[in-house]
Parts: sequence; C-alpha cells; structure tokens
Amino acid sequence: MINIPKGTKDALPSEIHKWHFIEAAARRTSEKYGFKEIRTPVFEHTELFARGVGDTTDVVTKEMYTFLDKGGRSVTLRPEGTAGVARAFIENGLQGGVMPFKTYYLISAFRYERPQAGRLREFHQFGAELYGAEGPAADAEAIAFAYRFLREIGVTAAVRLHINSIGCPACRAKYQEALREYFRPNLADMCEDCRSRFDKNPMRMIDCKEERCKKYTANAPRMLDFLCDDCRAHFEGVKSLLTAAGIRYDVDPSIVRGLDYYSRTVFEFTSDALGAQSTVLGGGRYDTLLSQLGAKPTPAVGFAAGLERLIMLLDTLNLAPSLQRTDCYLLGMDDASREKAFLLAEELRSEGLICETDLVERSVKAQFKYADKLGARFVVVLGEEELKEGLAEVKDMEHSTSRRVRFGALAQYIKQGRKL
Ligand code: HAM
Repeated sequence: MINIPKGTKDALPSEIHKWHFIEAAARRTSEKYGFKEIRTPVFEHTELFARGVGDTTDVVTKEMYTFLDKGGRSVTLRPEGTAGVARAFIENGLQGGVMPFKTYYLISAFRYERPQAGRLREFHQFGAELYGAEGPAADAEAIAFAYRFLREIGVTAAVRLHINSIGCPACRAKYQEALREYFRPNLADMCEDCRSRFDKNPMRMIDCKEERCKKYTANAPRMLDFLCDDCRAHFEGVKSLLTAAGIRYDVDPSIVRGLDYYSRTVFEFTSDALGAQSTVLGGGRYDTLLSQLGAKPTPAVGFAAGLERLIMLLDTLNLAPSLQRTDCYLLGMDDASREKAFLLAEELRSEGLICETDLVERSVKAQFKYADKLGARFVVVLGEEELKEGLAEVKDMEHSTSRRVRFGALAQYIKQGRKL
C-alpha cells in the first residue's frame, strides 16, 4: 500500500462541493472587480522565487521544492502565485495593454513546512493581483475585494482584518537601523532565525513565534513611527477609504508578512475559530517586485487566501454547504422496466434534473436503500404494469407520499415537487 505524501490531502467527492462553493465565490467576486483569470506553470526557474520572493525568507531558504530537471536546470514548484504572475506579465508584454492590469488565480502551491492543522506541503490559494495603480484606492480595492469574497462565503463575522504599513525602502532602512539598535543588547538570547535576520532583515524578527524572542519583540520600535510623509499619507488614504466603505480593521504593527517583496500597506484576515494557523488571507502592496524582475517600475498590490483554511473555518462554524442531492432515482423491477428507467433518466437529465438509475441489477429493496443513501428526493418506480399504462409510481422520500404520474409529466412534477 502506497500512502499519500506527508502534508498533502485528497479532496474526496464527498467534500468537493465545499471547494466548488469557495471557487465559485472567488470567480464571482473577481468578475465584479474586473479581474480575469490567469494560469501559469506549476514550476518555474528557481531563480524567479529566489529573486522575487526574497532570499531572506523562510519560504525561499527552507521551504522550496527545488530539483534539477533532466536537462540539469534548477526548477522549483511554486511556493506562491505572485512571482509567477509577475513573470508572465513581463514576458507576455502585458505592460503595453490595458492598465491597471487585474488578474486572479486558483492554484496549488508547495512549501516544505512542518505539517499541522491548516499547514500543508501542498495547499491551495485563491489570489488576485492588481498592477499599475500607486494610489491608496488600489490598496483599498484589493482589501474590499478580499472582504467581499469572505462575505460571499459567509465568514466575515468570524474574521478580523489587521492592517499595517511597512513603509518604502527609504523609510524602512531607518527603521531597520532602529531595530538593530534595539535588539543588539539581547541578540545572544534570541533564536537562531532571529540572529540571522538581524543583519539581513531585522523587521522579520517582529513576528518571531519563539517564546524567548516574544519578550523582546513586544516592545520593539514600530514601523508606523518611522513612516516618511508620503508613506504616512498613503496609509491614511487607505484607512479612510476602508472606513468610508464600512470595512472594519485593526491597525496591527506586528503584521510584517513572511515574504520580502512588500512595501507600504500589508494586511491579513485572521480567525479565532482556527488554531495556530489562523491567517486565512494575506496580502499587501509590492511596488518594487516588477522592476526587480525586469519590468519598468510598476506599482502592485494583491492578496491570496488559503482554501484549506477557509474550508476548515466553514466546517468549524457549521457553515459548509451541503452536498447537492440527487433529484430522483429511477427504479426498474425487471429487464424491460430497467431499460425504461435508463431512457427516462436520460430524458430527465436533458430537463436539467440530477438522476440516477440501477447499474448493478440490485433487488427492489436494495435499490430503495441505495436511493436513500444518495439522498434522492424522489424515487420513480417502474414495473410491468407501469410500462403498460405509461404511468410511474413517484415516491416523495421527504414527505413519504406517493403519486402516479404520466411519463411525459415526470420532469415537471419533480421540478415542482423538489421546491416543496
Ligand atoms: P502568504 O501569506 O504566504 O502570501 O499566503 C497566503 C495564504 O495562503 C495564507 O494566509 C494561508 O491562508 C495560505 N497558506 C500559506 N501557506 C500555507 C500552508 N503551508 N498550508 C496551508 N495554507 C497556507 C502569499 O502567498 C502571497 N503571494 C499573497 C499575495 C498576493 N501578496 C500579494 N499578492
């Protein structure tokens, strides 16, 4: 017996309706904001993520699925969607097209992390990216879009929006220096990750989860106190649009995000209803990524939501949609009525109904049991007499009633009946 690799999951037919529910909400919401879908490869040249996501991040230094292909090139399974979309935008010359450029994706992504509830090695994201708008309205639209998506799936009451600004490269450099000064006296007491971040990117020390580091990070200087005038005005602009749109948020200076490309606005939606992995959606502005990858300077903002975490949230809150039930099961008693059941099922499907019939020659009793397992709302019973008269015995399984219905009127009868 070969088992599934650690940190991966099957999405089984009995659960798939939850995925479809979330994916449909993602597509519906994307359309409302004018975002069109993009599909990029599952693997890219390793260099793209090293340069794009950032070589001081855990994602790049510890978590990438990287291998040499048979041609000896180093390729990596995408750990997220943003870098691949940026590459596709540049490579396909989309800068010359309609701007702002707006796109969304539903993808699987891969990170070699220690698996736990809500943290997988293969996981799925709904993400969106908006290029070519530098003002606060673009950040606010990205957040409003994320919020509307969460509202479409019904979880807004159980999530909180946290926002922060991590400034631009200019004001952040001053902040990083202030952080080094603050952490330096206690550095020896902090974890290995923090010690290595100290030189490369001390801001990432702020969201260290180690207990021994938390006592130092709690009172660390805040980026918000170091913002330059432009970054401050931008952040005020985002906040006032969110307030005007009735989207509630907490300003949370500890939100720094785990990927290197961000600047200015960063945000996360978290839920107390989940365990340690409580962030269901994260994103922010990243104005330097595109030029870093070779485009002319192009401001950008986006987000991604974790689909497994959203499903966990729906399950925890008891909000998951129920499996779509079968409208009717057609039961044949002998060879002739089985054939009629097959043909009537085809006709009813043409009318848009969900129908099943017997494929394994079960007894009448076993067919009723099977119809019950399918959750069939109606069972259409066909025997010798029914065939002769052109009438079927239709049992309403929910109301335990029964009625004889002409074959030609079955579709209409079932369509009306399933509404009751
Ligand atoms: P991220 O915060 O790394 O951002 O991931 C976004 C979301 O994906 C997380 O909030 C979480 O719900 C889910 N997620 C991440 N890692 C895992 C995992 N190992 N298992 C299960 N779920 C996970 C990004 O990926 C950015 N590309 C988002 C973005 C788009 N920023 C700008 N544009």
